[in-house]
Amino acid sequence: METLVKIENLHVKYNTKKGLLGKSQIINAVNGVSIEINKGEILALAGESGCGKSTLARTILNLEKSQEGCILYNSCSATKTFTKFAQMVFQNPYASLNPKMKIGEILREPLEINTDYNREKINQTVKEKIKLVGLDENALDLYPHEFSGGQRQRIAIARALMLDPEFIIADEPVSALDVSIQAQIINLIKELKEKYKLTFLLITHDMRVIKYLADRVAIMYLGEIVEIGKTEEVFSNPLHPYTKALLNSVPNINKSTKKELLKGDIPSPANLPEGCKFHTRCPRVMEKCKTCVPETYGTRHIVKCFLYDNL
Ligand SMILES: Nc1ncnc2c1ncn2[C@@H]1O[C@H](COP(=O)(O)OP(=O)(O)OP(=O)(O)O)[C@@H](O)[C@H]1O
Ligand code: SF4
Ligand SMILES: [Mg+2]
Repeated sequence: METLVKIENLHVKYNTKKGLLGKSQIINAVNGVSIEINKGEILALAGESGCGKSTLARTILNLEKSQEGCILYNSCSATKTFTKFAQMVFQNPYASLNPKMKIGEILREPLEINTDYNREKINQTVKEKIKLVGLDENALDLYPHEFSGGQRQRIAIARALMLDPEFIIADEPVSALDVSIQAQIINLIKELKEKYKLTFLLITHDMRVIKYLADRVAIMYLGEIVEIGKTEEVFSNPLHPYTKALLNSVPNINKSTKKELLKGDIPSPANLPEGCKFHTRCPRVMEKCKTCVPETYGTRHIVKCFLYDNL
């Protein structure tokens, strides 16, 4: 399998200040993430709110700076031209489309900025992409407020497709939509992957969406990937105690009878626990977990936990 995006030991920190006289705080949002995203796959990224999913996504797209680590795209260091190959679809299609621009203008903009296409070629490409996401050409003369949430998300996807990217990051693309509409957008993503061989990093809290769409899934906790593997494998045989607890919180998704539920709150990324970052909440915690950091064990199904140091 060919790797499209390779991320090695990525660290992203934010420096924040609380109030005018407040002390500055370092937020450790991403703490040593290494993952490979294969050509043509949908890799899902899941984990509780604040664990660093969006920060990782934005850093991959060069919208955030990393302090350490690297991102390779087709084996080359990611540069500004990367944006031509990679695009993002955001959670909220109400906020991500400029209300003052007609859909046609919204879709033309990336072509006008990034290509030397003439007017005719631009119009032709815009028409082609709007049809691709299941909307009619008439949409081009209308404004975002004239569309439903699901239709706006289709438009946001069309905009992401304008420059024919190979790679799309979708950050919670359906969570702001009515449940009845979600399936349509999920099916559109599936179709884009299958017909056009697009590669996706799909960020979602929704384990059902992951089960339906993703080839592989990565589970994130406090800025680290704690488990990664094929979706069926991770769902039928979750290894990390955190993954087990996450899956147990979703009814009817895994058949394990022994329910290990999450207790306590996520520690602050400004003050990370020593040792295994999950040790303050882990039902299987051992003495060494409190001071030593586990490595990642396994090859295809990878887990960062001392319980598997024999894998
Ligand atoms: N621009 C920023 N400045 C300071 N801290 C930030 C910034 N963006 C994110 N953070 C903090 O970094 C951590 C990771 O945030 P991030 O948005 O990446 O999480 P997330 O997993 O996407 O969460 P959610 O599921 O709620 O979208 C959080 O503690 C968040 O408060
Ligand atoms: S390393 Fe220890 S604390 Fe961390 S998940 Fe594994 S058992 Fe739990
Ligand atoms: Mg987020």
